[in-house]
Amino acid sequence: MSDQVIIFDTTLRDGEQALNASLSVHEKLQIAQAIERLGVDVMEVGFPVSSPGDFESVQQIAKTVKNSRVCALARAVEADIQACADALKPADQFRIHTFISTSDVHVQQKLRREFADVEAMAINAVKFARKFTDDVEFSCEDAGRTPIDNLCRMVEQAIKAGATTVNIPDTVGYTLPFEFQNILAQLFNRVPNIDKAVISVHCHNDLGLAVANSMAAVQAGARQIECTINGIGERAGNCSLEEIAMIMKTREALLGVNTNINHQEIARTSRLVSQLCNMPVQLNKAIVGGNAFSHSSGIHQDGMLKASNTYEIMTPESVGIAKTKLNLTSRSGRHVIKHRMESLGYNDTDYDLETLYTDFLKVADKKGQVFDDDLEALVFNIQQQDTQDHYHIEFLSVQSGGEFSTASIKLSAGEQQQIEAATGNGPVDALYRAIKAAVNIEFDVADYKISNKGEGEDGLGQADLVVAWQGRKFHGYGLATDVIEASGQALIHALNAIHRAITVNELKKEALAIKPTI
Ligand code: KIV
Ligand code: ZN
Repeated sequence: MSDQVIIFDTTLRDGEQALNASLSVHEKLQIAQAIERLGVDVMEVGFPVSSPGDFESVQQIAKTVKNSRVCALARAVEADIQACADALKPADQFRIHTFISTSDVHVQQKLRREFADVEAMAINAVKFARKFTDDVEFSCEDAGRTPIDNLCRMVEQAIKAGATTVNIPDTVGYTLPFEFQNILAQLFNRVPNIDKAVISVHCHNDLGLAVANSMAAVQAGARQIECTINGIGERAGNCSLEEIAMIMKTREALLGVNTNINHQEIARTSRLVSQLCNMPVQLNKAIVGGNAFSHSSGIHQDGMLKASNTYEIMTPESVGIAKTKLNLTSRSGRHVIKHRMESLGYNDTDYDLETLYTDFLKVADKKGQVFDDDLEALVFNIQQQDTQDHYHIEFLSVQSGGEFSTASIKLSAGEQQQIEAATGNGPVDALYRAIKAAVNIEFDVADYKISNKGEGEDGLGQADLVVAWQGRKFHGYGLATDVIEASGQALIHALNAIHRAITVNELKKEALAIKPTI
């Protein structure tokens, strides 16, 4: 049996479906590229039949990603599988992942069918998917609660029908590690054709056991783990990629398995996903939490000063956390910025040096010193700016005066310009009323928060908000030394996402309207 464990990342499918605001195509592409740099073998990037936006993002990622196999999800029905095949077509090679529930509770209560019907649907789905690709994954949803005889039967039939990977999900995060390991051991003992497919696991974290269960399954012979960055996913989330990858690296001698993950990309990828998904990482989260490598007590600090392995089983650098922190000033030149960015793991193709340098000088003039975190926040901000954005703030002025605060704004919307002024209860309220008057979109601000980015009390201010529009939610993000300006940018960012969603729907409607009927 191979000692390599395939890492299957589902941040953009299982992770994304659990967010309270959906990601734009541009944001999904950014995450997909980071996941590719991280070295995952397979990335599941959406459920194309679910919406035109999902279809488009799967298609864009299939066009762009070259070093990881791109995969999309389908229920065990032909229309879903056809949508996957259409969206994934631009990729050189791709995987279709189809699934159906196998537990009694799901088969009887959710699907309201007989197990034999479900089995027939699974066989048909796998055979249909094989018409488009020779890389087909089949999942037995709620496998953790499926009677073992039925599970063995389903796995055998799926492999016979042509599945090259068979996934055993603990969909509701119910099993215990020894129990899950036993399920895997029984499958390896009882399914006659099990050696014809890779056996995968997909564990949810409802009891906090997703990583432990995945590791137990690997010890029983599973050779693919499905996981997400920062463990995001339905309810309590999925198995966390960074934890499972660092377990296999740190304890490789004992476990005898390894992965293709570029561990030094872990911290950066985690920050990007947290930022774009508006999902903060808890401070004490293993590997990527803010405190994961900090030592607080005097006894620990004393030990660390004598030998770092007294209290550290892996180094922060091994997951890409920079050791030295440099502070730059307005006297630092372009080459220093470029060099610093290289040390932080960025290629000069990841950003435009001129734009970064201009933004850097503005911040340096206001703050005096610019730290690594500030620099990274600036690059992130530049990467969010989409040249196709419809709305731009040309000018804004806000006077704070309690409930009589006033704001005036000049906004460009495509070719047109709009000037508006408004009063409000506080400066942000006034600004948001002025923006609302200038755009033709009926929205509500559902959530809004300001946080300090970078270091020190004069760090950059970051505004994150969630805007509700026609039953959907959009995340907006803004960064500036002035929190009012950051708040304005965040709203405009969300409004641009809504505008893109309208455009995709309109294009879709147009495409449907001109489709010939035969
Ligand atoms: O949790 C689950 O069972 C899933 C399947 C679609 C693999 O996400
Ligand atoms: Zn899942």
